[in-house]
Amino acid sequence: MKNAKPGLRSIQWFAREDIYGFLYRSWVKNRGVPQDQFDGRPVIGICNTWSELTPCNTHFRVLAEHVRHGILEAGGFPLEFPVMSLGETLLRPTAMLYRNLASMDVEESIRANPLDAVVLLVGCDKTTPALLMGAASVDCPAIAVSGGPMLSGKYRGTDIGSGTNVWSMSEDLRAGRVSLEEFHEAESCMHRSHGHCMTMGTASTMACMVEALGVGMPGNAAIPAVDARRHVLARMAGRQIVHLAKNQILLSKILTREAFENAIRALAAVGGSTNAVIHLIALARRIGVPLGLDDFDRAGRGVHTLVNLMPAGKYLMEDFYYAGGLPAVLRELGDNALLNRDSLTVNGKTLWENVKDAPCWNRDVVFPAAKPFKENTGIAVLRGNLCPDGAIIKPSAATPALMRHRGRAVVFESIEDFHRRIDDPRLDIDEHCVMVLKNCGPKGYPGMAEVGNMPLPPKLLKKGITDMLRISDARMSGTAYGTVVLHVCPEAAAGGTLALVENGDEIELDVERRKLELLVPKEILDKRKAAWKAPHPPLERGYWKLYHDHVLQACDGADLDFLVGKSGAFVPRDNH
Ligand code: FES
Repeated sequence: MKNAKPGLRSIQWFAREDIYGFLYRSWVKNRGVPQDQFDGRPVIGICNTWSELTPCNTHFRVLAEHVRHGILEAGGFPLEFPVMSLGETLLRPTAMLYRNLASMDVEESIRANPLDAVVLLVGCDKTTPALLMGAASVDCPAIAVSGGPMLSGKYRGTDIGSGTNVWSMSEDLRAGRVSLEEFHEAESCMHRSHGHCMTMGTASTMACMVEALGVGMPGNAAIPAVDARRHVLARMAGRQIVHLAKNQILLSKILTREAFENAIRALAAVGGSTNAVIHLIALARRIGVPLGLDDFDRAGRGVHTLVNLMPAGKYLMEDFYYAGGLPAVLRELGDNALLNRDSLTVNGKTLWENVKDAPCWNRDVVFPAAKPFKENTGIAVLRGNLCPDGAIIKPSAATPALMRHRGRAVVFESIEDFHRRIDDPRLDIDEHCVMVLKNCGPKGYPGMAEVGNMPLPPKLLKKGITDMLRISDARMSGTAYGTVVLHVCPEAAAGGTLALVENGDEIELDVERRKLELLVPKEILDKRKAAWKAPHPPLERGYWKLYHDHVLQACDGADLDFLVGKSGAFVPRDNH
């Protein structure tokens, strides 16, 4: 074992010259691995979320092969392994319910096996935070490789974006503006290649976060899934992870407070998904950085949206890549003192070294900071008696005229209640009302589904109304838009004020002052609280029960309370 590095975990399996060495090596040899692979070279896990149930990650077998080539080229020993995959479109009641479960799978799979470092193959929304959170709790060397966005959707001569145009087309269908045949045709035109959603939805946002955090290779955010340069990136990540393993560059050297501040500013600059707020808080707290909701308002305040992508703008991820991708955005931030330039990234360079000369090829896609696409559009964190622990709104996706609004509440007790009544022409609602949805938070749904962007009532759509103020304890798809207040904390099912809102109550939103108030006297709210009964947990056993009993509120990252923090990369005792 002359090449063995003392810090490598794998030597405690493969460098043994006893019965355990036989046990650990012999079964691995059953697929043709020669003895010289056990010479102390770093063993690199390729953590794969390939699944046909996760359509956005179905090309990951090919991606893994490119990572494998890179690992071999750099003298590592690749071992690919599957973990729970989370497909946003098929999983019910919501993929978010399983993010923490998948993160446990990742954490335990890494620690229990002879792995010195991992490459995390991530794509569809929740796969990115789940894998990063799991690896962070091990704190081993790791590089995330995103699967890349799909090619732009093309429908009858126009570009259509994942999710974003689903919402608009379904409203068109409900309002009678498109036929069912057109609707079906659009389905085929929207998703026409491998990859994840190609709007600046949650998957693309998280791919940007990977790059801005420095935990992915430069270019990770935007190279289309089917572009050969995505394969090159995977191969380079494979080479680089061997270097990180040999030099024990742990995730905690990359995922610092400064790196999270960079991510928060990048989030604002790309007009990214509100879901990133929850994921970044959860990830930070795994690695030991005490990130909170107010950090988003503080670090993101004054950052302008530079990227003209759906849902806030008109272009798609393919355009973003051709325009220069995230490096062009990070350069703008760095040139305007909005980047911690010295943050280390996984390619061994600082973030600024990676982006300082990044070109921009299309200023209609990536705007300069001096002349931004939209001004001051970081995530706004609201407080008030309706959300004492916070709520958020994404101003870049909202209607400016509704950013300060007072209206009468129209309350839906659950998403089923909403679906039952929203199409009823007798529903007592007008465009000045505030739509309030309860019991869709972490405990209430369970899993905090993406239902916060409630579709508008058909009778108002037919009048030409396109946006209304909506408030809930739910999340919203990153591909959605509207004046939507989300992640109200505490959630209704945990006894938050949201549970006490009744039809006809006045609600006031003032984003400029970061205020969200239920204009009902405290004595009345106290009476309603005394009469309130907590809903039953959705299931009395299994993971749902564990989740319900231990999930934290959105403001704390919606992680399970016992998963916060890390246990390190210790090697468990022998197994026989
Ligand atoms: Fe997978 Fe949108 S459904 S990224």
